[in-house]
Amino acid sequence: MPAGIMMIYAALGVWTGLLFIALKKGHFWRVALFGVSLMLVLNVGYFVNGAPNAIAFFVGIYDVLDNLGVDGAPALATCPGNNCSVWGDVYQNHPSWGVAFYDRFANGPASRTNLLYGHIAFNSIVFVLMHIQLAKPGGGANASLHKLLGRVSFACLTLGTLCALVLASQHGPVTSYGGSLSTFGFVFMSLCVYGCAVKGVLAIKRGDHDEHRIWMIRFIGAMWGAFWLFRIMLFLLGPLLRNWDSAAILTCIWFSAPLGILIAEWMRKRYARGNTANAQPA
Ligand code: HEM
Repeated sequence: MPAGIMMIYAALGVWTGLLFIALKKGHFWRVALFGVSLMLVLNVGYFVNGAPNAIAFFVGIYDVLDNLGVDGAPALATCPGNNCSVWGDVYQNHPSWGVAFYDRFANGPASRTNLLYGHIAFNSIVFVLMHIQLAKPGGGANASLHKLLGRVSFACLTLGTLCALVLASQHGPVTSYGGSLSTFGFVFMSLCVYGCAVKGVLAIKRGDHDEHRIWMIRFIGAMWGAFWLFRIMLFLLGPLLRNWDSAAILTCIWFSAPLGILIAEWMRKRYARGNTANAQPA
């Protein structure tokens, strides 16, 4: 097994353990820190190794479960020389979205790869900054820092989402992504993420701090959905839905961001209830 893939599996195991502990204790900062760090390791790989190699690594994470117990399925496909995965000739079949993903950037125009780099860089910056914003809300001594980071985050989010939308507009002919359903799905994902951020910005412009916090927590949920939930769902759904080409990837594209918002909303209410229950009577 490639050493990098083994390390990712080990990291996912540790992360699952941290999640169980967090669910028991009600403190999620370790889970969040681990998720942000692992996101950075994966995404920085695009700039260190180049898009085709990083994509082959990404596809390699999915090859194991997708091939488990079968020698081919409608949602699996081959790629020339097995170059689309770091497993080399160990696996002859790969998730069909992975074959298309590799082909789009190994054999596509440089402008497309630059859009991907832009998308990854800007969205990764936002992913880090949004946690700093949550940890250091805008009251008191943090006010000017919070305001500055908020503006930087919103500008990066706008650029990162625009890059994603241009990339998604090219998905029509990519049948293993689901064609136009993938394009519309990514537009919907963008609306979920960007819509929450815009609502949060409008609320603070009105001076409504409570609404601002509520929408920004939803925004953080949408971002976690679009990045981590998407990739974890794809990991689990790939083998389950392999009899239907593009079913797993389309489910992730359409449902990851709204699910992220729902989870964030649930956590926000649960945490608020916990605080109320723990509050000492005056
Ligand atoms: C507004 C929400 C998002 C949308 C609409 C979106 C859309 C996309 C699209 C269209 C692609 C390229 C697929 C292709 O053209 O072949 C992509 C890939 C990618 N996106 Fe996003 N994305 C979103 C959020 C995020 C976030 C929050 C991050 C980082 C924290 C991120 C990081 C990546 C990465 C790293 C890839 C390459 C695949 C991988 O290695 O995971 N995206 N995204």
